[in-house]
Amino acid sequence: MTTEQGFFTEADSAEVVISRNANAQDERLKQVMAVITRKLHEAVKEIEPTEEEWFRAIMFLTDTGHMCNDWRQEFILLSDVLGVSMLVDAINNRKPSGASESTVLGPFHVADAPELPMGANICLDQKGEPMRVHGRILDTDGNPIAGAKIDVWQANDEGFYDVQQKGIQPDFNLRGVFRTGADGSYHFRGVKPKFYPIPDDGPVGKLLAQLGRHPYRPAHLHYIIEAPGYDRLVTHIFDPDDPYIRSDAVFGVKQSLMAKFQPVTDLQFAKAAGFEGPFLDLDFDFVLSRPKT
Ligand code: BEZ
Ligand code: FE
Repeated sequence: MTTEQGFFTEADSAEVVISRNANAQDERLKQVMAVITRKLHEAVKEIEPTEEEWFRAIMFLTDTGHMCNDWRQEFILLSDVLGVSMLVDAINNRKPSGASESTVLGPFHVADAPELPMGANICLDQKGEPMRVHGRILDTDGNPIAGAKIDVWQANDEGFYDVQQKGIQPDFNLRGVFRTGADGSYHFRGVKPKFYPIPDDGPVGKLLAQLGRHPYRPAHLHYIIEAPGYDRLVTHIFDPDDPYIRSDAVFGVKQSLMAKFQPVTDLQFAKAAGFEGPFLDLDFDFVLSRPKT
């Protein structure tokens, strides 16, 4: 009755608001706003915030907005630490069995990284523990995929991306694009990445601290793999021995994306592989799915 008249009551609060949107032209928007309104009112009814608490929530969102600029997207960080980025990723990237799993893109991808010859060293400042990274790009039947584009980027041995240290690291340090040949294999050289904090000097970092959470992501390499006729794969390889492997601040770790950074200490073997001393070996195959028909 009250809903029909459009008057607000505590008991009918969500339905009063939702019914006001009856003439929305976009059905999807109408549906989304109905769900959000219902869940938000439900949360407010469960929490019963004081007016002061509600104002603090408003100020948190205001500060989050103020922190955003062309380089910094604090709302994405908020979505990341709430696990929502990973949930949206999971919903939109359900894979057939055997296909490699996806994970978050993150804010440090650079669109125009240089295309490099297979085997190139992406570490341009010779800093860090040398690493060989190799594997194959396969389809779900185990066949190699030729002509796959592999876009890779990683943090350095101190946990910084080149774009966070302009003038300290060379431009495009620890980034590269490679293309597979007929056998679907890839290999390049990098250095062992280190764990690092997500940007935590804003409201999201403050929230994490208040929740007793650290801001760290375990060491990883980022990949975007694309091949004609296959789904684009945005993913990482994680170091299973990293101290933060079970507590990634953004929930990006998946069991299937961990691969041992294997130390190679046999100097003869190292020399044959083109290294002057011991190195780490990382072997990881990626399996691409085909778009659903
Ligand atoms: C990253 O891995 O680059 C990243 C992902 C989410 C938030 C911050 C950084
Ligand atoms: Fe990263």
